[in-house]
Amino acid sequence: MEIKINKSTNLKQKPEDSTLGFGKIFTDHMFIMDYSTEEGWHDARIEPFGNMSLHPAATVFHYGAEVFEGLKAYRKADGSIQLFRPDENAKRINSSAERICLPEIPEEMFLEGLKTFISLEKDWVPHSEGTSLYIRPFLFGNDETLGVHGVHHARFMIIASPVGSYYKEGINPVKIMIEDEDVRAVRGGTGYTKCGGNYAASTRAGEKAEKMGYSQVLWLDGVERKYIEEVGAMNVMFKIGDEIVTPKLTGSILPGITRKSCIEVLKDKGYKVSERLLSVDELGKALESGELKEAWGCGTAAVVSPIGELCYKGKKFIINNGEIGAVTQKLYDTLTGIQWGKIDDKYGWTVPIK
Ligand code: PLP
Ligand code: COI
Repeated sequence: MEIKINKSTNLKQKPEDSTLGFGKIFTDHMFIMDYSTEEGWHDARIEPFGNMSLHPAATVFHYGAEVFEGLKAYRKADGSIQLFRPDENAKRINSSAERICLPEIPEEMFLEGLKTFISLEKDWVPHSEGTSLYIRPFLFGNDETLGVHGVHHARFMIIASPVGSYYKEGINPVKIMIEDEDVRAVRGGTGYTKCGGNYAASTRAGEKAEKMGYSQVLWLDGVERKYIEEVGAMNVMFKIGDEIVTPKLTGSILPGITRKSCIEVLKDKGYKVSERLLSVDELGKALESGELKEAWGCGTAAVVSPIGELCYKGKKFIINNGEIGAVTQKLYDTLTGIQWGKIDDKYGWTVPIK
């Protein structure tokens, strides 16, 4: 694939690592590639980061024709850069695209565009502990028509942002509210995809939770409002007795790459991991009986985040005295160890950037 590179002549000053939040600062360039049914994917290019012009009728503005991905580039102690399981993002963006009738991107194209772009932006990968370069590939429809049809013109882009931790709490436990009014997704809908519409449907409950002092919402299934699904930006896991329970992939939750990696690491360490339905009732009983030992969320942005408090219908449940538990800590250390290259990647998950 030919990628034209138009380098910026006005490079920005890089921020101090200590000032990084999440997703507020962007690198010098962006990757763009266009699609049409006649030409397929074409015109791959890297341009200086900046605003762009789109037709006001573009499908993305009216019918939510948009899907995205999230992954990170990590700096190892020797200064080199690596990605974590980018092949999984290449697969998932296509599974999302298929659901909302956006054109799929050949995986090799996705990966080549990504690697070329990150290689150019290498100096933007921060150096301090816990920091990384968050990468946001996204794909949207830009047919210039108000008719509701499958997309014939689309654009794929990649932007990147140096980040610190997603939650202000860092590795300290977050407080999560179990949402019992709004629902995020239903089976047969788009819950398993990373489409912008899922996040639009989530925003109201998230805002309500934030006003009440909670970081995010824990969703229940959209039909019975009984089974635990996932949190706004992460999948969830619970240690109940000796069993690690995580909601099974029923079609309404995102098949997280961190979730998949955590399951593999935990099984490898000898834990019993069950992907099954978990009702809010069962969780409540486990809390009351003391069987619920630990809870955490996992995701690219959130990494492994302990959950110290859950609130359901106004009742507060404190988990593990609001402290990080031993399994959560072990999982955090192993996963971040692999991602930042501090421990051997025996799974072959990391991909070096030249
Ligand atoms: N669930 C939702 C709704 C998310 O937005 C994310 C973040 O991407 C996750 C789960 C975790 O997925 P992953 O581990 O692939 O980042
Ligand atoms: C990610 O972890 O990559 C996400 O997409 C979460 C996000 C909504 C910030």
